[in-house]
Amino acid sequence: MSASTTNPQSPTEDSAAFGVLRGPRRLIFGQGQRHAVAHEVAALGTRVLVCTDSRVAGSTAFAEMINGLRQAGCTVTVYDRVEAELPVTSVHECVTSAGDLAPDVVLGVGGGTCIDLAKAAALLLTHHGRLQDYYGENAVPGPVLPVVAVPTTGGTGSEVTPVCVLTDPAAEFKVGISSLHLIPDVAICDPDLTLSCPPALTASAGADALSHLVEAFTAVRRGPEVTTEQRVFVGKNMLSDHYARWGLGLIGRSLARAVDHPADRQARADVMLAANAGGYALGVAGTAAAHAVQYPVGALTKTPHGVGVGTLLPYVMRLNQSARSAEFAEIGAQLGAETTSDGGIDAVTDLLAAIRIPATLAELGVTDADAGYIAERTMRSRRLVDNNPVPLDEVTVRRLVDAAIAGDHSALSD
Ligand SMILES: NC(=O)c1ccc[n+]([C@@H]2O[C@H](COP(=O)([O-])OP(=O)(O)OC[C@H]3O[C@@H](n4cnc5c(N)ncnc54)[C@H](O)[C@@H]3O)[C@@H](O)[C@H]2O)c1
Ligand SMILES: [Fe+2]
Repeated sequence: MSASTTNPQSPTEDSAAFGVLRGPRRLIFGQGQRHAVAHEVAALGTRVLVCTDSRVAGSTAFAEMINGLRQAGCTVTVYDRVEAELPVTSVHECVTSAGDLAPDVVLGVGGGTCIDLAKAAALLLTHHGRLQDYYGENAVPGPVLPVVAVPTTGGTGSEVTPVCVLTDPAAEFKVGISSLHLIPDVAICDPDLTLSCPPALTASAGADALSHLVEAFTAVRRGPEVTTEQRVFVGKNMLSDHYARWGLGLIGRSLARAVDHPADRQARADVMLAANAGGYALGVAGTAAAHAVQYPVGALTKTPHGVGVGTLLPYVMRLNQSARSAEFAEIGAQLGAETTSDGGIDAVTDLLAAIRIPATLAELGVTDADAGYIAERTMRSRRLVDNNPVPLDEVTVRRLVDAAIAGDHSALSD
């Protein structure tokens, strides 16, 4: 057995026994568990602000949840006009729509956009002020209203993470608010809610989850001297590794099946659980280069977050190969492929191809003329750049972007 496949419960040889795990006070997972929503919400409050989008609001499952809340004695206000990628205007509109309700609990039902809206609304309803006062890490001054998160994609993992991601027209790209106070109180994951996801959405959300798992598993490793008072994201550690391994195994066996057989409930459950594991892993370890480069790529091409990170991931892995060969070999094993570092990169590349994620940035509409801009802007996402296992400078990122535009993996090999 190679070093990379030794006891997965033990810290790897180059690390001290150090781990951090954070998440909601309760996570409920399983087919049909959406019926637990009314009980869980009513246990936290009786004046409920519900954050969702118009598509989810029109579903039978959503109507049942709202009926259940009313039967449980709750007063409910639904805000269902959030736009994809969460513009800050949606957050303000949502908070205003609460009017005189004075919510004591916020319920987010939908994809990452709706759950992030619930977090941002809970933040403003508690601490007021402007959203930009809280951008970055650890700027939220204290606990926020309790949030119950019910994801309908598999997915961002936002139901367990300490982050919400917003689009602010005043900033060039998306902005994040990262704080332990934004971790939802309760996450209810019912994989049957993802049965209606069309293949392209299953693929983009699944590629995002795969990227979270790979980037968290291969992130920079910081020592136990890093405390969670200093940082929300503490780097790769034995507990984030545990979740990443678990999620990789699940996503490897079921993501392509969920895309090609949308009604396969077992595949849907595996993918949602993998996405959830990805949320636990990234919520402490953080993500890295694929996410950093995706921000300017997404701003330029207006392509979904998961498509951008998925396209970039194989190139980032090739760039990081010298620093993370043992982890890549293990990824190969988890994905049922060869247990070598090339095997891990090939397995991720093949899985992304199987779910029809574009293989190059050129296919997303990026041209050579964009490369310099993308590299320069990537370097501004300092937190993500610093989390990459291979140190990044603008020249290295430019090499990565050029290779990803051209589809030239060999340009990144040592
Ligand atoms: N907070 C975090 O930890 C975190 C992590 C990763 C990504 N994100 C953010 O999450 C957002 C992306 O979330 P997402 O990928 O879940 O998509 P989304 O929430 O943006 O939804 C995309 C589309 O899918 C539709 N949809 C959602 N569930 C559906 C279902 N069950 N059936 C049919 N259609 C459905 C929505 O109505 C919407 O039109 C981005 O803004 C991204 O930046 C947040
Ligand atoms: Fe992501």
